[in-house]
Order: sequence, then C-alpha cells, then structure tokens
Amino acid sequence: MKKVYIETMGCQMNKSDTERMLGMLSHLGYEETKDSEQGDLLIVNTCSIRQLSEDKAFSQLGVWGKRKQANPSLKIGICGCVAQQKAKSIFKRAPYVDFVLGTHKIYALPEIIERINKGEKVCECTETNTTEDNLAKNFEIKRVKGVNAWIPITEGCNNFCTYCIVPYTRGRERSRLPELIIKEAKDALNAGFKEITLLGQNVDSYGKDFKDRNYRLADLLRELNAIEGKFRIRFVTSYPTDITDELINTVVELDKVCEYFHIPMQSGSSAVLKAMNRRYTRETYAKIVKKVRDMVPDVTITSDFIAGFPGETEEQFEETLSAIDEFELDYSNLAAYSPREKTVAAKWVDKFIPEEVKDERFQRLNKKVQENCLKSNLKYVGREMEVLIENFYEHKGKMINTGKTRNFKTVHIPCDRDLTGEFVNAKITGTKTWYLQGEIK
Ligand code: SAH
Ligand code: SF4
Ligand code: F3S
Repeated sequence: MKKVYIETMGCQMNKSDTERMLGMLSHLGYEETKDSEQGDLLIVNTCSIRQLSEDKAFSQLGVWGKRKQANPSLKIGICGCVAQQKAKSIFKRAPYVDFVLGTHKIYALPEIIERINKGEKVCECTETNTTEDNLAKNFEIKRVKGVNAWIPITEGCNNFCTYCIVPYTRGRERSRLPELIIKEAKDALNAGFKEITLLGQNVDSYGKDFKDRNYRLADLLRELNAIEGKFRIRFVTSYPTDITDELINTVVELDKVCEYFHIPMQSGSSAVLKAMNRRYTRETYAKIVKKVRDMVPDVTITSDFIAGFPGETEEQFEETLSAIDEFELDYSNLAAYSPREKTVAAKWVDKFIPEEVKDERFQRLNKKVQENCLKSNLKYVGREMEVLIENFYEHKGKMINTGKTRNFKTVHIPCDRDLTGEFVNAKITGTKTWYLQGEIK
C-alpha cells in the first residue's frame, strides 16, 4: 500500500476536509502515515487567516521540496485556504508542487491523484459555490479514532468582516443537507464517537439558503438529539446577532445539546466593530450575552478578539479589556491584527498599528483572559460535574485522564485506568488558570 501524510493547519473545517480526503485516498489504496518521512504522497492542508499561517504553509512545502530532490517519485500537494487563494501562482513559488487543490473542489482529489501519477501538474481552484456533497462519488470519511466528531453543516461565509479572508477562501455560505449530516452523525456514533460538534462560520444561518424546505439549526438539533444513545452535541461558531430565542430554547430543552456558546465579539468598542463591519454594537452584544446567561444555567460563553485593528486607539482597546470583564467571558481566543490580501481593512495602511503596540495590547488581553478564565473556573470548585474523558497520559509520574464538562471546561482527573470515551462524575477539587482539577466520585 502507498502511504499518504497530511499536515493539517488552521481550523476544524480543515480537519474535517482532511478526514474526507483520507477517506477518498483509502479507496485509491493509500494508507495514512503519521510520519512524513514514510509518505509517498505529502499534502499540506493550509490556513490563511493570518500571514503567519500562510508563511508556515510555504516553509512546510520548502522542506518537502528539498526531500523531493533526493526522491523524485515523491508527490507533493497543497490544499486548503492558501491553495484556494493563491491557486496557480503556487507553482511559481514552489515548482516541486504536483497539485494545488482549492477548498471548493476537494472531491476532485481522486481524479487529481490519477493525473499527477501520470506526470501532470494539476491546479483545481475554481469556485463552485455549491456544497460538494452532490459531487461526491464513492468516498467515505476516515475519522481519526477518537471521542469528538466534527461535522460541517455550512460552508463559506457571507459576512465580509473587513479583516477576514474566509469569504474569499471558502466562498459564499451554503448549507449541507440535513439527511447527510444526520447520516454522518449516526456513522460516527456507531463507530464509538461520543460527541458531535456541528461546524460553520455562522451556524445560526444554517438552512437560510434551502429553497424547498423551512429547516433551521434548531430543527437539526432536535433530530440529532432524538438519535438513541448517550452522547453530546455542540455547535460552533455563533454570530452574535443571529442567535435566535428558539435556538437558546433548544439548548435548554434538549438533553444532549451542551451549555456552551462560542460568540466572537472581536472588539469591545462599537466604533471599531463598525469599522470591522460587524453588525452589532457593544450594547447589542451585551444584551445577547445577558439573554443567553439568563436562559441557560451554568452556560460557558467564549469569544475571539483582535488586538490592534487598524485605527484602534488606546481608549478603544481598553473597551475590549473592560468587555471581557463586564460580560464575564469564560475564555477568549486572541490574535494580533494581520493584514490579508483582498480584504477591505488591508487597504487602510495609514491606520495600521505598529507591531510593538499590537504585541503589547495582545499581552494585556492575554492577561485579562487568564484572570477571567480562573475566575470562571473558581465558580465550579466543590461542585460535581459530568466529564467526558478525551485523553489519558502520564504527567510527572502520575496517570491523568483529561476531559470536558458539558459546559466546555477542561478537567484533569488523576486515575490509573484509561477512561477515554467514558462519561464520569467528578468532584471538582480545585482549579488552575486553564483547567479544573477533579476526582472520580
Ligand atoms: N466565523 C467566525 C470567525 C472565523 S476566523 C466569526 O465570525 O467570529 C477565526 C478568528 O480569527 C476570528 O474570530 C478572528 O478573531 C481571527 N481573525 C480573522 N481574521 C484575522 C486577521 N486578519 N488578523 C487577526 N485575526 C483574525
Ligand atoms: Fe470571517 Fe466575519 Fe465570516 Fe467570521 S463572520 S468567517 S470573521 S467574515
Ligand atoms: Fe479555517 Fe484558516 Fe481557512 S481558519 S476557514 S483554515 S483561513
């Protein structure tokens, strides 16, 4: 059997695409290897959310290109968001690459492999803007064995936030058919997975584009919740103003849907939000968070923030710091602003914030996020919580099981037995900044 190695960068959308590609490749006689030195086919699945992510992709290709000089039969491919964006130009920068495969065409992979094996160089990057399910032939998903299965429900995005490249790399928003999603969920559960996470840039838009039916995220959650067995359901990411009361109610009503919302705010300043083309103010964000907290007991709300967006003043930045406190955000992903080709904000060069100021703001944000994470964890010390174990490993001579509560808190539980995939009731005995410490009851 031939061996394929895939290096996956970026978000869960890419992880999910990697799973699909591994499935297709298994039909062509390729087996996955975790050691790139063993691969006959090397693929880098790239992310372009920041310049740094893009640079990482090209440096990976460079390393493999050198290896190909010694072993000319090696095949090298690039897919994902950088591939979609740079298309054919990649051959100029990295001439040893055999194929460039954009995000809209991953189901063309089997045909591409045939062509490169005949010595062709292939670039498939045209936008299709349909979901690719209907183009898929003879493929299965090859999930990495585990606890958590990620299932895309929408692809693309229509929001065009002024900093973000995703609408250019993933195309317009489109929803996958519920019957396909439900089948994938059932297959994953039959294979032993214990948690289903529904993925989309804006999951609350799910179904808006269906012409033949009125079917939204709440409907999908109800159908998934009705599948028999013990498992959990999550969904990410929620756009603040698209969260409906019906959705919040389904989270409360449905036993398998967990008390967790990821609602990126991006900035605490209404003026910066306007420049970002986010369709809400600080005040509207506050109302939504309050509503979610009032309706869903013990809910965890996480967010994303960008430090040093073009034109961000010190006062506006401080509004972001205060937002994290005021809205008691349990955890936030942080990034320093990185200008991206084609996006609107990348043209505001005269308003760019110097690197050292962005870094300094990033550090201050990071400190704030740490404080709040600890504060939110402290609420749970002394409580009993259900933990789904995801990992088992040795730490300082002790065996540890780690897992997540329903509300997405990480818990470390010392225990010699590997409990991966099991639901355990744990007594929370203490906390560190990023995780809770527990004991099995
Ligand atoms: N759909 C999600 C975000 C997906 S991108 C949403 O609307 O929130 C993930 C995160 O990357 C974003 O939330 C943002 O915080 C960050 N990000 C996107 N573009 C960026 C850029 N140009 N520079 C820095 N961070 C960026
Ligand atoms: Fe990017 Fe905005 Fe779409 Fe999120 S909602 S993917 S930040 S354009
Ligand atoms: Fe994801 Fe990065 Fe693309 S965050 S959608 S892989 S740009």
